[in-house]
Amino acid sequence: MLGLALARSAAGEAELLTLATLPEARRRGIAWRLMQSVLERTWQGDAQRLVLEVSAINETALGLYRRCGFEEIGLRRDYYARDGKQDAVVMAVQRDQNVAGHLAGAAESCPGPTEA
Ligand SMILES: CC(C)(COP(=O)(O)OP(=O)(O)OC[C@H]1O[C@@H](n2cnc3c(N)ncnc32)[C@H](O)[C@@H]1OP(=O)(O)O)[C@@H](O)C(=O)NCCC(=O)NCCS
Repeated sequence: MLGLALARSAAGEAELLTLATLPEARRRGIAWRLMQSVLERTWQGDAQRLVLEVSAINETALGLYRRCGFEEIGLRRDYYARDGKQDAVVMAVQRDQNVAGHLAGAAESCPGPTEA
């Protein structure tokens, strides 16, 4: 196993709980592919949006989520206690803005990483 994503869906809303790739397997597009799978499975259910929280200093994750269509919808101050207090950015992607590309198997709404 090189990475994992964990999400749950209930009452019309899905939440990404965990996304991680092994340090030695990073920057190969694994997290992006995991997010493609999460989005596809989410839209196959009844969720109208997928939400997540991410540390405000986690630029890699923030960039990945933005490329997958997520937008910032809130900020939780001092949310994370590790390494001193850090804010959490709350992000969401709406089903009606994202679903077409995923159900059609197209990549426009979640473009992959640019090849180096
Ligand atoms: C955030 C995380 C999941 C990203 O995993 P990843 O598999 O490296 O992600 P990807 O490869 O899909 O994309 C990450 C970056 O690699 C780049 N990348 C991907 N393939 C690449 C390649 N072949 N050449 C160069 N760069 C590449 C992407 O463009 C992206 O660039 P950026 O860092 O400038 O934004 C990983 O760093 C991680 O597990 N971090 C610790 C846990 C964490 O922070 N989880 C998210 C919090 S909710």
